[in-house]
Amino acid sequence: METIRIPRVLQDAARTHRRQGKSVGLVPTMGALHEGHMSLVRMARRENDITVASIYVNPKQFGPSEDLSKYPRDLEADLAKLEKEDINIVFLPDDSLMYPAGFSTRVEVEALSDRLCGAFRPRHFSGVATVVTKLFNIVSPLRAYFGQKDFQQAVIIKRIVKDLDMGIDVAVCPTIREPDGLAMSSRNRYLSEEERAAATIIYRCLSEAAGAVKSGIIQVDTLKKVMREKLMTEPLVSKVDYCSAYDPERLEELEQIKGEALLAIALTIGATRLIDNLLVSVPSST
Ligand code: PAJ
Repeated sequence: METIRIPRVLQDAARTHRRQGKSVGLVPTMGALHEGHMSLVRMARRENDITVASIYVNPKQFGPSEDLSKYPRDLEADLAKLEKEDINIVFLPDDSLMYPAGFSTRVEVEALSDRLCGAFRPRHFSGVATVVTKLFNIVSPLRAYFGQKDFQQAVIIKRIVKDLDMGIDVAVCPTIREPDGLAMSSRNRYLSEEERAAATIIYRCLSEAAGAVKSGIIQVDTLKKVMREKLMTEPLVSKVDYCSAYDPERLEELEQIKGEALLAIALTIGATRLIDNLLVSVPSST
């Protein structure tokens, strides 16, 4: 596994691989790697000749009051995990090379970036869009891998690829969960033992809502009530940013579920903001 820190060096290496007819897959991450990340890495490894993983805690996607300085970093363990999967290149840029003096471009995806998490994290998704566009331009991968855990992020990235004719195949891989259902996340490391136990409420709530949809409850007002009541049973939930059913493409809240819907929750436990989602579907004839 080769470590590359300089964007131009990676650009040249990726170009050489492409010229040799090799397929290149990219897995962008912010490190503190867990099984969710590793599932993307394994998928990329299976589907491509050359796998590139990036580890970069992107300052542009953190708000002024967010956790940039205390975001978990564990480079040594991360490199050992990637090495074990036998990937080809790990990209470890630093801020001065990603955003050199004079950097002034932002990639903005209208509407989609204002919904769900965007309403609570202004400029977050333009930070993500900007760094992912840079990574795409540096690597020019054939395929790029993202997790369903960050559903809105994946929708926005697909939009960029389509709107800007990037010709990259964006794969959205299933959410990997702890045995008790909690979606794996680097931020789970912030939770105390008590908070960690309380965090299972998110998946329990989504599962209950999915069950309700299956049993024929398709009015979103009713579903929301069921979900809110469930969340309220957990006293350590200090704030609910959103909790409802949304159109999986436009990310707008639905009134009634027809076809596919995204059940999504964002809430705070202690000082930690957590998100999760499930896709549900009802036969379109109902
Ligand atoms: P990060 O939070 O490190 O996540 C990197 C990738 O792993 C994302 O595509 C995310 O959706 C996926 N992922 C996280 N938890 C997962 C889980 N439990 N199951 C499956 N996939 C999971 O998302 C980012 O970094 C950044 O915004 C990034 C795209 C790297 C841009 O900076």
